[in-house]
Amino acid sequence: MITYLENERQFQLDTPHASYVLTVAEEGYLLHTYWGKRIAPQDLTDLLRLSDPPFVPAKNERERASFLDCAPFDFPCAGIGDYREPAIVLEDGAFACDLRYVSHRIYNGKYAPRCLPHTWGNGCETLEILMRDEPTGLEVKLHYTVFEGIDAVIRSVSLENCGSRDLMLRRVLSASVDLDDDRFEMITLYGSWARERQAERLPIRHGKQRIDSTRGESSHQYSPFFALVRPETTEESGEAYGFTLIYSGNFTAQAELTQFCQTRAQIGIEAGSFAHCLSTESEFDAPEAVLVYSEDGLGGMSRTFHRLFTDHLIRSKYRYAERPVLINNWEATYFDFDLEKLKTIADEASRLGIELFVLDDGWFGRRDSDNCSLGDWVPDQRKLPGGLKPLTDHITGKGMRFGLWFEPEMISPDSDLFRAHPDYAVGIEGRPRTQSRAQYVLNYARRDVRDAVWAQMKEILDTVPVSYIKWDMNRQLTEVPSPAFYHPYMLGVYQMLERLVTEYPDILLESCSGGGARFDPGMLYYSPQIWASDDTDAKERLRIQYGASLFMPPSAVGSHVSVCPNHATGRITPFETRANVAMFGTFGYELNVAQLSDDEKAQIPAQIARWHSISRLIREGSLYRLGNPFAPTGFAAQQNADYDAWIFVSADQSDAVFTYVQITAEANMKSRRIRLAGLLPDAVYAYELGGKAYQKTGAYLMQCGVMLANLWGDMTSVQLRLRTL
Ligand code: DGJ
Repeated sequence: MITYLENERQFQLDTPHASYVLTVAEEGYLLHTYWGKRIAPQDLTDLLRLSDPPFVPAKNERERASFLDCAPFDFPCAGIGDYREPAIVLEDGAFACDLRYVSHRIYNGKYAPRCLPHTWGNGCETLEILMRDEPTGLEVKLHYTVFEGIDAVIRSVSLENCGSRDLMLRRVLSASVDLDDDRFEMITLYGSWARERQAERLPIRHGKQRIDSTRGESSHQYSPFFALVRPETTEESGEAYGFTLIYSGNFTAQAELTQFCQTRAQIGIEAGSFAHCLSTESEFDAPEAVLVYSEDGLGGMSRTFHRLFTDHLIRSKYRYAERPVLINNWEATYFDFDLEKLKTIADEASRLGIELFVLDDGWFGRRDSDNCSLGDWVPDQRKLPGGLKPLTDHITGKGMRFGLWFEPEMISPDSDLFRAHPDYAVGIEGRPRTQSRAQYVLNYARRDVRDAVWAQMKEILDTVPVSYIKWDMNRQLTEVPSPAFYHPYMLGVYQMLERLVTEYPDILLESCSGGGARFDPGMLYYSPQIWASDDTDAKERLRIQYGASLFMPPSAVGSHVSVCPNHATGRITPFETRANVAMFGTFGYELNVAQLSDDEKAQIPAQIARWHSISRLIREGSLYRLGNPFAPTGFAAQQNADYDAWIFVSADQSDAVFTYVQITAEANMKSRRIRLAGLLPDAVYAYELGGKAYQKTGAYLMQCGVMLANLWGDMTSVQLRLRTL
């Protein structure tokens, strides 16, 4: 609900448990007034300290700069006296901009940033505030949307050049919030290839603490997410402010603790790798930012992100639908396969009940290694005589569905496409291009380049029955011709994805970027699932999946059972635990099933049946993290990091699945008691543990917990299904 108090010129956005308040102060400054636990609409303007001289510009012109350098702006400008990080920088000979309130409107529905992924749906209300920089004629609309029942504010920014000169935009962030204290710790997710989304929690200090990407993708190294939490905030209690960006390219996310111990929190497109010429009468949209407030700790914050993204961002028909259990041949064969080998895997997979066979990299051109053929999307007749059809006939004949890997944004120097069109690759005139994984990036800002790839993909999709696509992207951008290139590149990628999901709406799309370098909300708009990491080791996955779940829905986490010793770590873990950990997200296998032991094969049909019986809980239920897999020296100093546990609870709380993983076994250790969460206190839940049937109230399970025996061996696990009587 959005309220406007006319006398105070104060806007209030209320969600079930939170309020976000803005004030139009003297001279049209838009000031952030309050964001926190819900409060009844009332005059909050004294929080702005405007009545304390000398900070009233109209009454104290000589101290105008002091006012500008400490007032809590909700969209701060550069060049006029606020020396903190600005949200907008434009170059008009100089770098100054001074946005003042012009008008506002409040309406049902929301603004959809053009050509960008965005939240959608009914049951939302938007506050639109029009601001203007008089000297240049730049008009900026700030959009604030709230969805019924969700403790989030969705912000976006659209600009229009209503002046008579072209303006160069050098920075347009999507959200900036000035919080009025310094008692925060900042949680960010750092990582690397095969080690994505490691959570880090540190007190903020004076100055700027920033994560970003200038790689042309949201990246393995940092995720476009951060949270500001109180020192006392835990998983289930305390304040948490979460920020993310619905965008898959370069981003910046930062907290700045100022001289007056205020905290400016910001998120948006990274400014150093951004430029956009806004010619007269033209418009520009910045991506949506999502701001979540929770007084129920990190868990509450994450559940809000999950609910918003599941109900109002993912569009695929698979959003709430049962997804097929897949088998992917990558770790089973890498590039070394032929029709017979694939058939052997498919035969065994189908016998065990696996429903979708995914053919990964290596099926096209002459791709025996990652050295060549990207851009030549024609089946390799040496490996697949007669093309894909004999394989797809075989697979569909077994009653399985067929999925296919593409890397549509890339071109190998050794490819027919590059030989014919070297100019298709991103580069700078007169400078050699840098290879990465022996490949270049296609110039997706060009429509003809996208069309050339699309024509080839379409040929395949119209010839064989492809019901799943894995869209991969295996290198970062280099030799980018100008900072004005990155954003159009990203828009080109989104246009291709839009074309794919519009023309082939039945295809289940899984996006991927060398594992999880594009594991971001922008991608969710097109693909309901995203390959989370090339690290399939169950122990490492506990951390990666924990980090991912801080802001992304578990239903999006691509997660597979692979062989041991694991290809990323060499670690050996029980087959059962690998399955229990993969059931945190979308569930599949990535191994040669034909080579498994009889005992492992025997477990697969039961795992698939179990998965189908719980998958709705993972897609539509609520996640409560009950453990923390990070080392006691790091994020989880207060926790015992030797186990991890979580529970998914259905919307009506009558059904739940609890998973416990004992990471390290210890000799002579007592059984461990884990308190559950999210249940109905008075309902009685039935479950089986260690061959014994139990009936306990939700209150018992949440206050006293379940008693889990000390298991024999590392990475052992237990999964319990709890249902009300
Ligand atoms: C990176 C992906 O993350 C892997 O799963 C696999 O598809 C390879 N690329 C193929 O080159």
